[in-house]
Amino acid sequence: MVQIFLDTASLKEIEDISTWGIIDGVTTNQKIFLAEGGVDFKKRVLDICNVIDGPISVETTQTSVSELLDEAREYASWHKNIVVKVAMYGNGNGLKVVSQLAREGIKTNMTVMMTFNQLVLATKAGATFVSLFYNRSKEAGENADQIIKNYVSLARENGYKSRLIVGSIRTPEDVATAISAGAHILTIPTKILAQMPFSKRTEETIAEFDKAWQDFLSLRKAEAKPPVTR
Ligand code: E4P
Repeated sequence: MVQIFLDTASLKEIEDISTWGIIDGVTTNQKIFLAEGGVDFKKRVLDICNVIDGPISVETTQTSVSELLDEAREYASWHKNIVVKVAMYGNGNGLKVVSQLAREGIKTNMTVMMTFNQLVLATKAGATFVSLFYNRSKEAGENADQIIKNYVSLARENGYKSRLIVGSIRTPEDVATAISAGAHILTIPTKILAQMPFSKRTEETIAEFDKAWQDFLSLRKAEAKPPVTR
């Protein structure tokens, strides 16, 4: 079954949506934290870990390999469910970091990936999760749906352990297409996820059934009235 992660650092959103019983994890990044204003970063990450018992992705922000490794080790030490996000830098530094962290048993989410080749490299480096940025990939001229299909079938044939996360989701239709293409995990912004239970026709049908029920109750009431005696 596909897993669903929330793509947010809003504790309120996470608490609200977690009651739906469908959230398996959370992903964050620098832009997502910027949207939260001046929150205490570590406290917020730990608060999220207390609400969701699943992988919580926290992104590294340094540039050199040694600084990225130090930052990743620090985040991983905060909580057992923390997954360290490392970007697919074009100079290969992200791969160096992910492969070293894999040797240390630290879970990683190799991120900001647009191409099939990037996903394969991240998988070979030992990333726990590999993140395809669905809409950004399309903007770069890639066929993101075909990338998902090809990666998932390669992963199945070769028994890859990495799990494919599809992010950069902008509409409920993106979610349906990516799941149909075989994505292992979708990470979805709250405002998109919140639209997913809704269908205009479902709402109309519920209203139709509610009306029928009220009519049924009125009938029962009318039948229950004692007969009029003269
Ligand atoms: C998730 O891991 C990504 O950081 C996120 O989905 C990126 O989304 P964006 O393309 O809307 O910034």
